[in-house]
Amino acid sequence: MVTEHTLEETLDPKDWEELKKIGHQMVDDMIDRIATVRQRPPMKFADEKLVLEFMKPLPLEPQELEEVYDEFKENMMNQHMGLNTHPRFWGWVVGAGTAQGALAEMLATGINFNMPGGPFIPVLMESQVLEWFKNIFRFPKEASGLLVGGGSEANLLGIAVARNAKAGFDVRKLGQVAAVKKMIIYASTETHVCIDKAVQLLGLGMDNFKKIPVDENYQIRTDHLSEEIRKDKNNGLAPFCIVGNAGTTNTGSFDDLNKLAEICADEGLWLHVDGALGAWATINDSTKALVNGMEKADSLAFDLHKSMNMPYDVACILIRNEEAHYKTFAEHPDYFGGSRTMKLRTDYGLQVSRYFRSLKVWMGLKEHGLNKFGRLIKQNFEQAQYLAKRIESSKNLELMAPTAFNVVCFRYKPHGFDDDALNEINNKINNMLTRMGVAVLSTTKLNSKTALRACIVNHRSNQEDFDLLLSKISEIGETVK
Ligand SMILES: Cc1ncc(COP(=O)(O)O)c(C=O)c1O
Repeated sequence: MVTEHTLEETLDPKDWEELKKIGHQMVDDMIDRIATVRQRPPMKFADEKLVLEFMKPLPLEPQELEEVYDEFKENMMNQHMGLNTHPRFWGWVVGAGTAQGALAEMLATGINFNMPGGPFIPVLMESQVLEWFKNIFRFPKEASGLLVGGGSEANLLGIAVARNAKAGFDVRKLGQVAAVKKMIIYASTETHVCIDKAVQLLGLGMDNFKKIPVDENYQIRTDHLSEEIRKDKNNGLAPFCIVGNAGTTNTGSFDDLNKLAEICADEGLWLHVDGALGAWATINDSTKALVNGMEKADSLAFDLHKSMNMPYDVACILIRNEEAHYKTFAEHPDYFGGSRTMKLRTDYGLQVSRYFRSLKVWMGLKEHGLNKFGRLIKQNFEQAQYLAKRIESSKNLELMAPTAFNVVCFRYKPHGFDDDALNEINNKINNMLTRMGVAVLSTTKLNSKTALRACIVNHRSNQEDFDLLLSKISEIGETVK
């Protein structure tokens, strides 16, 4: 049958010069947005009109890029200025990013290299970055690693390798159900919830995740931990892994990693360290003692989009035993070359298609140099100490946890209110700080009391920002108590 010839199409622009013009405008607007971030509130919720904008139906026919971009500017760029790029954004654990990092991202997606592996420059660049990391974190040359999308994924990969390496049977073939003895994993009660998710996804089961209490510094009680391991072994269970914290989310505390390494060595367990928040404490003299022992970990997960302020998303997993890492993830289907001997990046993780995540890391580290990042880690640490000292010397504020690193937990505590009333007052203060455009903190509970929480992983913050925060908290506190 003869079919009518239709014009072949492409997604490329009709006019490349015209595209360049719009592209340059986008770059200008993006950089202006970052450069002027201080002039806008740190957070702004979408109003009803905008919510409706983003419920409009899917277009079936094309529209000029310029029009689409104008709509984006109107409804997004010009509306939601600030957020975590703002100097007074200290909620949760959120890095601020950089304009240069954004340009690196633009180049990475422009090159659009999909990197399952092979002798290509982007793959070599990832390998180079991993070599740098092994050096920084004092892992051996033979160790393996992978850049991934976040601390949650990095932790999942680390614990997957730990499970497979320590199971004593072929988990990939037989499944977790084949475990004759229940495999037990340990971490403190302060451990991030992504470890719970990893435990669940890997089929280990939450009943086999023992949460060990912490001391007054929010560090794991290693005496309880040893006792628990002893009891579990006596009861015929199979302890296999301890997860140590290098910077907990709630308070930024660090477990005694040397002690955990010692227990792991004595008991034949795998030490996995979650350094999503705090691993980078290692790169300056003021904080590096916090991570003593981290270099003994079997696996280490850490983020670059938090304390290192690289644009979202990028994190890393390092595994001391490359073979165990490879054996956990490598597959050899025919469509990957069947009996190939070359190891691919995809042999070390979940993703087959992988974007060029290493470029922003490589460019960022080269542009600023490791020492500058070290000074910024120290700057945030000193800002946290400054904030904590001012809180301690104020009669209406209470510091609620030690400030080991860059997280400050405190509450407004005027005289004559019980804990329930203070919880309510502090929640109100937190909401008003955001709504009034002063700063973004988050809240947490410490010993059932609501704490205001500032997590300072922000290269744009300065001392006046913290002075402003405290004076506004006093002002707001007076009105809501
Ligand atoms: C201690 C800790 N571990 C893990 C994570 C999860 O990392 P990500 O948000 O990059 O997935 C976080 C996130 O805040 C964290 O604070």
